[in-house]
Amino acid sequence: MEQFVIHGGRRLSGTVTVSGSKNAVLPMMAAAVLSPEQCTLRGVPRLRDVAVMREILERLGVQVACHPDGTLEMWARELGTCEVRDELSRQMRSSIFLMGPLLARAGKVKVAYPGGCAIGPRPIDLHLRGLEALGARLRERHGYIYGEAPRLRGQEIHLDFPSVGATENIMMAAVLARGVTVIGNAAKEPEIVDLQNFLNAMGARITGAGTDVIHVEGVRELGGCQHQVIPDRIEAGTMMAAAAITGGEVLISGVIPEHLESVTAKLKEAGAAISCPQPGQILVRGPERILATDFKTLPYPGFPTDMQPQVMALMCLAEGTSVITETVFENRFKHADELRRMGAQIKVEGRAAVVKGVPVVFGALVEATDLRSGAALVLAGLAAEGVTTVEDTSHIDRGYEHLEAKLAGLGAHIERSRAGSGPPTGV
Ligand code: EPZ
Repeated sequence: MEQFVIHGGRRLSGTVTVSGSKNAVLPMMAAAVLSPEQCTLRGVPRLRDVAVMREILERLGVQVACHPDGTLEMWARELGTCEVRDELSRQMRSSIFLMGPLLARAGKVKVAYPGGCAIGPRPIDLHLRGLEALGARLRERHGYIYGEAPRLRGQEIHLDFPSVGATENIMMAAVLARGVTVIGNAAKEPEIVDLQNFLNAMGARITGAGTDVIHVEGVRELGGCQHQVIPDRIEAGTMMAAAAITGGEVLISGVIPEHLESVTAKLKEAGAAISCPQPGQILVRGPERILATDFKTLPYPGFPTDMQPQVMALMCLAEGTSVITETVFENRFKHADELRRMGAQIKVEGRAAVVKGVPVVFGALVEATDLRSGAALVLAGLAAEGVTTVEDTSHIDRGYEHLEAKLAGLGAHIERSRAGSGPPTGV
């Protein structure tokens, strides 16, 4: 198991460029199954989740080529199978994204039921109800979901909750359905707009992504396309929080500031000075005094749940008490236990966490329990007095490309090492 070893207390400074969006790439890789022609994605980050999705596609018979410059070529000329085996789908919940495309392209699917994870049970009822509304016949047996659909037909669907994944899965199923599908109460995240643009480049006819009503006019078949992935707004937000928590000055480039408006507003409330000196850039100057700030996570454009752990780490060092409410996931405060090991004062009551700011947190041995909790612990380590060891970087590597190199490039003293293997490696 690998770990990050962080010597805290350094103010970050310099420029960092964010990578392509993990949460945009994963559904688009699944969408490549919809076409018999080659689809090319540019700006794809080198992440563990991308590698797992690549393996899932190759097992289905899709030809995949990854290039060092971040170009990903996929060619689903024909599919050898429509089964996603459990050893892969258990590694990554996003394997569920294959349901829509396989039902649309091949009329059948077999996928293992994705497990829950550290942030909650992660049900998929909205996915399944949406696909059944389009005419898929689904049944669950021995941990697998079997689906059949001679030809899907358009339907009006209203989501109980603006689920990102359910919106994307239904969009991908509907593009080859007969007739028009309307998705009401759809999620509005930028990654959904990116998926619409990718599918339309393949010849789909989708409008409304980014609003809560998406229209999909089914077509007979899709072609290939080339598409540039949008930047990762959560990685960008994580770097913004790193600048804030260390009192540094960091220029984040290759971003879309409009995707980060709620994060920018919250970090300004906490005392950071934030500006956009050039298009595609955000400049963050961390505050001398971090101000306690309450916030509530909400579906986009509200404050993103994927930034909640990182900003909780910041609030641990604020002057005053902050109340954080997590409305999206049932159990996304696991990082509080680990932050307390560093001296933070946090009390969790159900979906609310009360953070009483302390003047200093101390380096400690802590464990990453999921992707964003791990990022939060790295941020706390950057600001801590002493050395912090964040165990199990595998969670962090799922969603951050070269995190330690990017932070070291900003002046952080952070190294990756194998647990129990002596001095850490240089970055
Ligand atoms: C996507 O997950 C993201 N993952 C998550 O990012 C992100 O936190 C989440 O959207 C919310 O923004 C990817 O895009 C790969 P949801 P997803 O369906 O689609 C409940 C990260 O750190 N729900 O919008 O799984 C669910 O339990 C990850 O990058 C149902 O009840 O999120 C949750 O409480 C973490 N039934 C809420 O909706 C369903 O059928 C939001 O889930 C589906 C979801």
